[in-house]
Order: sequence, then C-alpha cells, then structure tokens
Amino acid sequence: MALTDFDLVLFGGGGDLSMRKLIPALYARDRAGDLPPTAQIICIGRHKWSNEEFVAELNENSKTHISEKTLTPALWEKFCARIRYVSLDATDAATYQPLNDVLRNDAGLTRVFYLATPPTLFSKICNNLSARGLATETSRVVLEKPLGRDLASAKQINLEVGQVFKESQIFRIDHYLGKEAVQNLLALRFGNVLFEPLWRREWISDVQITIAEEIGVGNRMGYYETSGALRDMLQNHLLQLLCIVAMEPPLSVTPDAVRDEKLKVLRSLKPFTAATLAKNIVRGQYRAGHIEGKAVPGYRQEKAANPDSNTETFVAIKAEIDTWRWAGVPFYLRSGKRMADQLAEIVVRFKPIPHSIFAQSTGSFQPNCLIIRLQPDEGLQLNLMAKTPGDGMRLKPVELELDFAETFKTPRMDAYERLLLDVLRGQLTLFMRSDELEAAWEWVEPVLRQWEQEGNEPLPYASGTWGPAAASALIGRDGLQWREEALPE
Ligand code: BG6
Repeated sequence: MALTDFDLVLFGGGGDLSMRKLIPALYARDRAGDLPPTAQIICIGRHKWSNEEFVAELNENSKTHISEKTLTPALWEKFCARIRYVSLDATDAATYQPLNDVLRNDAGLTRVFYLATPPTLFSKICNNLSARGLATETSRVVLEKPLGRDLASAKQINLEVGQVFKESQIFRIDHYLGKEAVQNLLALRFGNVLFEPLWRREWISDVQITIAEEIGVGNRMGYYETSGALRDMLQNHLLQLLCIVAMEPPLSVTPDAVRDEKLKVLRSLKPFTAATLAKNIVRGQYRAGHIEGKAVPGYRQEKAANPDSNTETFVAIKAEIDTWRWAGVPFYLRSGKRMADQLAEIVVRFKPIPHSIFAQSTGSFQPNCLIIRLQPDEGLQLNLMAKTPGDGMRLKPVELELDFAETFKTPRMDAYERLLLDVLRGQLTLFMRSDELEAAWEWVEPVLRQWEQEGNEPLPYASGTWGPAAASALIGRDGLQWREEALPE
C-alpha cells in the first residue's frame, strides 16, 4: 500500500535512538521507494543547529549505522533533503512557532509526532502540541519505551496523553513486535493446522523465552540506572513475546482482535505470592569477565556507574498462565546483558513419548522441541527423533531447519522499518493498547516493590556466562534445563 504524503516529527531527533535506528530505518524505506517524494522528516532538538549543521551530525552519527552495501551517496543526499531541523524547547509551548511554520497545513497529509524522549516529557509535549493547535484530529503520536517505570506512572502517561489523543491515534512501540520472526510465529501458529492441536498443556511441557545480549550497558548508564533488566526487557519485550506464543487464535489480524487476545494472556498471568516472589525470580548483575576472549569491566565499573549500584542487568522469571490451555505449563523468561551469546529465541518443548516400542528406553528419546529464532539469524528449528541409517533400530535426535534468509532470499526489514511504515499507514496491530500496557505493569509491580526493599541485592555473574547459577537452579527445580545447558558439548 503506497503511503500518503506525510510530515513526520521526531522529538529527540538528535538522540541515540533516532541516530542509531529511526533515521537508518527511514533511509532504508526511502531507498526502497516507499516514501512519497515530498514527505518531510522534521527533527526536533534543543541544540541551535542549522539544517546543514544537523545534516553534518547525521553524517557523523547516523550514516555510520547504515550498512555500506545499501549506502549510496546520491540516495543519502536525496534522503537528507527531506530533513528539516527545528530547534525548540519541548517543554515550552512558546518556543514551538518554528514547528508550526514547517508543518504543512493540509488535512490530506499524514501527520505523525514520534516522541523518542524520556517518558517524563510525554504529557508535556502532547499538551504543548495541543496548545499550539498542532495535534489535529487525524494526527498520530508514537510513544517510545520506557512507557513509565511502574503501574502508577504508566497510568499517568495513558491518562495525560489520552487527554490530547484518542486511543486510535496512539502508537506505543515495542520494537520486538516488529521483528520478522515474531510475525512468522503468527504465521506458523495460525497459517498451519499442524501446531494448533498440540499447542496446549496436554502436549507442551514448558516454554523458554531468552533474550541474551553480549553488549553491556554502553553509554546508556543514565537511563539504565533508572530502569534495569526487568523494566528494560521483561515488562515489555519478553511479555509481548509470551503473549504471541500463548494467545488464543484472534478473530483476525485487526488491531483490537489481536490486542484483546494478548490482553487476556496478560490478565491470566498467575499473580505473585510471597512464596513465588522468593522462589520464581532471579536477579543478577554482571561483574568483569570475558566476551569473545576480550576482558570487559563489571557493571559497577562501567563509565558513569554508581559503584554501589543494585540495578539488575539480568532477570529470569518463571511465569504461569492460569487458563484452560496453559494451566501447569511453566513459561521461563530471561534476559541479560554481557551474556555468553547474542541471541533471542523461543523454545517450545513438547512432552516426552509415553512409551518406547524400541529397545531404547523412553529416557533416551529427546522430547520434540520447536525453536523460533529471532536473532541473530531468523529461523525455525524442529527437533525430531529419527532412525540412524544401517542395520538395527537406533534412534537419534535430528534437526529440521528453516532459515528464513536462505528460503526467501528477499532483503530483510528491520523492526523499526516495519513499525514506522505501520505508523505511517495507521495500522495499530503491532502496537500496545493502554490496557495491555497497564496489565503488564500490574503483573510485575509486586516484583518491583520487593526489590525496593533494603538488602535486596542482585546476584553477581561473570560477564560472558549465562547469568547467576540461581537461574539454572530456578528451572532445575522443575527437572528442566535451559536449552544451551541441555545441548551436547
Ligand atoms: C531495547 C533495550 O528496548 O532493546 C536495550 O532498551 C536492548 O537495552 C534492546 O539492548 C535490544 O533490542 P534488539 O533488537 O537489539 O535485541
């Protein structure tokens, strides 16, 4: 579907997210021919840069995030011609006139305000847009995470942004929902009959969802100290993936049909009790160690770190979903920085065979397992048992592999590219609704409260490992292992 001509306003236009992700994603779509010739990208910042100076900033800090294979000087120049830099103080409506001047007053155009700013500015900016008559009936607003830091602040954001924009105009981003493999999980579940009859407690033993990063906190210490792994990854990315795995078939892929089902999952998460709070959560913080053979410092020794910080850089949680389909099936979620590998995957493990007709004992059969890989490469793996060739009947595990890049050979689209296109098309399916956001915060709230208590320190783990040993014990108590621990050496 071709895009209508648009004015896209990026608050935080000179910031990290804009430079690393948004501008490169927009360039990629421009290169693909998706952007209308006269579409404008209006970057807002406090610096008093001229347009030329801002483009020089882009050359320095954003162009470097575009793969050389796709970077053509002429295309980049054409793309930069769309950029309008506007210097204003986002908190002060009196400074907004240059934005009024540059926005085109044409009801047929799409107008999007993308707030890549701290959440404390969301309502202020929305109010200022409203005061300046810029937040029209048809304009859209995109909110970047973090969407609050607990239930109360998330509710406040929903309330205040909701006073300016209708729910149908609000796009709450979780970039994990824009990843190709997540979309493919929907295709796998609802485009095939094979899995649906098995997708339930009778056949599935457990589900593991891992987002592991080798990178540390980098130069984001200011933000990360106020966040930690639970707020940064679990409350949003991991829970959204869990929703896609666990939701009932939606009526269609229309926004509310999908979001209604995701909401039901979030509302069915078994609430924590004092006992499960103590038992089902592991919180860790990386110490010095080695990543790919290179020595790296611990979290407390990173640039601008608080040497006494208790912020967690790793979290593992055992969750349960109280529904007919999922009762009794554990969902293990974990995410950490400075881990042994850089990967994101969902592992659905099926139950063991009930009886062996072969000479081998049932224990020697590896249960079937479906692995949905999100990163680094996107793909599917299905583990089966098969006979080894030759005389006799010996079964051994084999893997059926589907590599999406190999299979489709079409260029992949980054999550931000897809989500930006959806915003510009007004397609809300991959964005969180206010009630979803609140339900996710509500579930993690008791964990946050418990961690605030004095003496609750994260467990240390060496950089380059899979997190604290307690994370293995968490799953080990149920007689299970994380996938990498179960793999042969
Ligand atoms: C962001 C987090 O939302 O997701 C970062 O704030 C994290 O801390 C990033 O590194 C991971 O995203 P991806 O797409 O690189 O896996």
